[in-house]
Amino acid sequence: MGHTRENIGWVANTMPPTDCSANLGLLGASSVAAARAFHASIPGYEPTPLARLDALASHLGLGGLYVKDESFRFGLNAFKVLGGSFAVAAYIARRLGRDVSEVGFETLVSPETKAQTGELTFYTATDGNHGRGVAWAANRLGQKSVVCMPTGSSPARLEAIVREGAQASITDMNYDDAVRYVNGLAEADPDGVMVQDTAWDGYEEIPAWIMQGYATMAAEADEQLKAAGVTRPTHVFVQAGVGSLAGAVQGYFANAYGEACPVTTVVEAQAADCLYRSACAGELVAVGGDLSTIMAGLACGEACTLSWDILRNRARAFVSVPDWVSGHGMRLLAAPLAGDPPVKSGESGAVGAGLVSVLMTDGGYGDLRQALGLGPDSQVLCFSTEGDTDPEMYRSVVWDGFNPSYRVQG
Ligand SMILES: Cc1ncc(COP(=O)(O)O)c(C=O)c1O
Repeated sequence: MGHTRENIGWVANTMPPTDCSANLGLLGASSVAAARAFHASIPGYEPTPLARLDALASHLGLGGLYVKDESFRFGLNAFKVLGGSFAVAAYIARRLGRDVSEVGFETLVSPETKAQTGELTFYTATDGNHGRGVAWAANRLGQKSVVCMPTGSSPARLEAIVREGAQASITDMNYDDAVRYVNGLAEADPDGVMVQDTAWDGYEEIPAWIMQGYATMAAEADEQLKAAGVTRPTHVFVQAGVGSLAGAVQGYFANAYGEACPVTTVVEAQAADCLYRSACAGELVAVGGDLSTIMAGLACGEACTLSWDILRNRARAFVSVPDWVSGHGMRLLAAPLAGDPPVKSGESGAVGAGLVSVLMTDGGYGDLRQALGLGPDSQVLCFSTEGDTDPEMYRSVVWDGFNPSYRVQG
């Protein structure tokens, strides 16, 4: 009896360039600075650690490997709150007739602000982390939130959202249908505000603020790399559900480094690989069905339009990975080589590091390694975007060796 692993799919970006300057401009220095200043005004703010994995880098034949550890983000175990909190801040600042760069957290949570905005309800759909961030922000502002989750969502993630005071439930819809459903609820509520972490035609302002919020994570990592003596990452691996995160990271580095922008690889769960398929087709393509993957945060079948505009012009490659790559990454980061720090990295968090490890050690993927130019001079940056946000699944993968997409042959 043997095991075979499902294959990783990839495509180099050969799409003809279009003008993405308007959307790229959303991630320019002044917007990033405004988001960072807002985050810094939140009590308890600290940059999350950047784990330096020297032993693993040398084991894999890389110059350096760095993993941004978002399990430390505001005690929420995931990066997502960066987006939801900044979008809510920017929305309220606008209602107050002020620029978000002048409005810190203290002003937002003040009774005077509440008196001016009145009772609001923030609506969103989520696989877990975004909804928790929106509920957390609403709770601190003394406002309400309504959060819907797709079918199959983890009860532990639902409970974490309910603990933030949200009215939350798991629906029988997939992620993209849940977004449409909640949008209808928000539109029917005169005090409702849809705070969704993806854009579509006609719904762009709030997702743009969310992407600006995510850029804080990229900006922190960039600074931490410089402090570690790395002038710039040569390669960035960033995972994507709808792609707002990937677009934000790509946008940040494209603005910060221009022509010297790191080679960026977008990594998706095979069950929900809408960006990869869009890159293959040369136009936006959706993935439907139940989008079943252990990488719950990446289980989105319809891409964020703002992000796609950036990624189709700037990303180097789009990679579609089976779940075993994520499981490999989770174990690799949990049990480091001597001298390297451990990183508690959940299913959607570990996939970038897992992919880097596979590319450097499995000769079957030499073509992709070569296309990306990965080698001993590479300084690679990955984002572990969540910790053990589903603790039971985390333990089943890391402790018990659960490996969902190995096929047993016999
Ligand atoms: C932990 C984690 N990583 C990555 C992502 C992907 O972000 P996006 O949907 O913006 O591509 C998500 C989205 O929910 C997530 O929860």
